[in-house]
Amino acid sequence: MSPSLQQKPSTTQSSGSDSTMSSKDHYVPVLDSLSSVYSASALPAQEQRWKGLADAFTKSFPGEKLDFIARSPGRVNIIGEHIDYSLFDVLPMAITQDVLIAVHVGEGDGKVILHNTDKQFPSREYDTASLKDIAIDATVHEWSNYFLSGVKGAFALIEDIKIPSMHCVINGRIPTGSGLSSSSAFVCAALLSILASVQFNSTKSLTDVVTKSDLVGSAIVSERNVGVNSGGMDQSASVFGVPGHTLRVQFYPTLKATPIAFQGEGFAFVIANTLVVADKFVTGPIHYNLRVVETTVGAEIIARVCNLGPLPIRDGFGGTFRGVVEGFKAKGVDFNGVIEEVKKVFSKEEGYTLAETAELMGQSEAELVKKYMTRFPIRAERFQFRKRALHVLEEAQRVEQFCQLLGKAPAKGDTETYFAALGNIMQASHKSCKEQFDCSCDELDQIVGLAMANGAYGSRLTGAGWGGSTVSLVPKSIVSHFVKTLKEGYYLKRLPGLTEEELDDAICVTEPGLGSAIVEY
Ligand code: ATP
Ligand code: GLA
Repeated sequence: MSPSLQQKPSTTQSSGSDSTMSSKDHYVPVLDSLSSVYSASALPAQEQRWKGLADAFTKSFPGEKLDFIARSPGRVNIIGEHIDYSLFDVLPMAITQDVLIAVHVGEGDGKVILHNTDKQFPSREYDTASLKDIAIDATVHEWSNYFLSGVKGAFALIEDIKIPSMHCVINGRIPTGSGLSSSSAFVCAALLSILASVQFNSTKSLTDVVTKSDLVGSAIVSERNVGVNSGGMDQSASVFGVPGHTLRVQFYPTLKATPIAFQGEGFAFVIANTLVVADKFVTGPIHYNLRVVETTVGAEIIARVCNLGPLPIRDGFGGTFRGVVEGFKAKGVDFNGVIEEVKKVFSKEEGYTLAETAELMGQSEAELVKKYMTRFPIRAERFQFRKRALHVLEEAQRVEQFCQLLGKAPAKGDTETYFAALGNIMQASHKSCKEQFDCSCDELDQIVGLAMANGAYGSRLTGAGWGGSTVSLVPKSIVSHFVKTLKEGYYLKRLPGLTEEELDDAICVTEPGLGSAIVEY
């Protein structure tokens, strides 16, 4: 592979014991068996699914050899919501559900052809020669934009990359807009499939295709081409995922993922999808992208009013609350002191108009709009700087508390108290998402309420919110009863027409799984 892929390590993965990691661990694994990808319990169903994809590939491209399948999983975030783009640590884990891209590297028809097993995503075709300068229209909601983001990522990694003919069939099992990050899994799988095709074209085999760090770094930046100003949590979890571990993903001072095992046994994570689709692209101007503006401009205002000097800029966009905390730290002000300063500066609980914001920033309204609200347009009557900042700072503290607890064995083997303490932190996170970040909805709140009333240690929305899924920490001994109660209390009441299969997809026990991988055929 081009040396430039290996020369630009932008991120690191730490195992917590780096000395035991071989350099191989830094590369996306190239595997020859599904038993290295999935847990024993998931394997039989996945074997069927992969066989189905291979059959679909043969049907789409008769007579062509399936060379490899690139896969990247979704993620569930345990704690640390909407703080990755403020550069605070988060704690997600990769899940079993993933996006697969089956590829034949062509002999030179000069085409990238994309078929999708899900017929809501119509086939697309591109001339490889057009890819270098291909424009992504971020004003339209088009599934192949996510593949083209992968193309952009490939050119960002290797400027003169020659993408060969690729004949692809895509199969995704992460429900879209479910808060489990189907979009990032797709972008990571797309970028991986392109880099693998380039190598396959020249060597006819696959080893050391790309470092996980390069894959993550490039996927984070390139996914923004679709029009969502997202952080880096999803891509990090998707690529760095380690079976049996959650990942502490740090963004400051550099991106790093540290696998952490839960202490003790007897617990399970249950994901329950509200089935309210929360599409970040569609609602970006009033939800996700607006929150990024509120937290970015909020941080810039605090820095200006409190004389912290210019903040380091995140990915060319603006300052962050992490920068604010570091700036105050240099002046001897601790985290709680920062929270007090934020309350003083943002005393107006009703929020700030654009004119008031411009005044606080010492800029004209037009300058503000151009700088923060043009590439990713937003709509708002008032900016809720106070509530958003308090959520971000307090959520960052919760991640710290959660990780500290995870690092300790339960006192005297008392797992009940240990898991209850973790659950309480998850509860506080959900409350703040709902009341301060306004990213919950009735359905999420209902499932969280049901979960807590039926034995969960903790339960919260996961991912961007405004629909999508919840994650609950549940004693293993009650899991089947818990799942049954949620089915009866939420799904059968609200959505009585669901089939058994749809119900099983909507609510499932999950285990932390492997990140991105390539399986060679
Ligand atoms: P979140 O980031 O909150 O966890 P998400 O990533 O599932 O949720 P979005 O960021 O809104 O949701 O992205 C969903 C979009 O990603 C879909 O509308 C579709 O365009 C694209 N997508 C996801 N999976 C696939 C797939 N298997 N095939 C084609 N397109 C997909
Ligand atoms: C989405 C984004 C992430 C993160 C979460 C909220 O999943 O893609 O970067 O901001 O929302 O925590």
